[in-house]
Amino acid sequence: MCRVKPTQLEMSDRPSIYEQIGGAATIRRIVDRFYARVERDPLLRPMFPADLEPGKEHQFLFLCQYFGGPDDYNRLRGHPRLRMRHAPFPIDQVARDAWLAHMLAALDEAGVPEPARTAMHRYFEQASTAMINQAPLIEPS
Ligand code: HEM
Repeated sequence: MCRVKPTQLEMSDRPSIYEQIGGAATIRRIVDRFYARVERDPLLRPMFPADLEPGKEHQFLFLCQYFGGPDDYNRLRGHPRLRMRHAPFPIDQVARDAWLAHMLAALDEAGVPEPARTAMHRYFEQASTAMINQAPLIEPS
């Protein structure tokens, strides 16, 4: 008899978040909305390079891959190692909160449906916290 562990069954039966939200077209909308917000943000914009397009494409490929779509990010960029890739940027709590607010707004603007929306919120909240690499600036008294 072929016994499949429940966890394996669940994993193969349940559509990925990528599928639930409408695939690459929806992720493209999320990334477009997110970058439109970053572009107007006086705190975050200087952290990003003058040309936003390459990073935008990498973000798109990463999110497709992470949420269960094609693994083109790995093929093009190698292992994500996001904390290492973010080390050159001074990310404190304030920058993280701004980044997260833009990403959560972008999910809504792109029309991401529940329950995928809540799952994506949870991921972005946790992963953006892990990207913090600067203590808050404490003014000497
Ligand atoms: C959930 C949290 C985050 C995820 C999943 C994420 C994902 C990514 C990805 C996939 C890239 C492109 C990496 C590559 O070049 O292959 C990237 C680049 C970048 N991220 Fe994030 N990031 C997160 C949080 C943040 C935060 C909190 C900040 C700053 C406040 C930030 C700032 C940047 C910057 C400045 C770049 C470089 C963009 C470029 O080179 O054009 N990220 N991020």
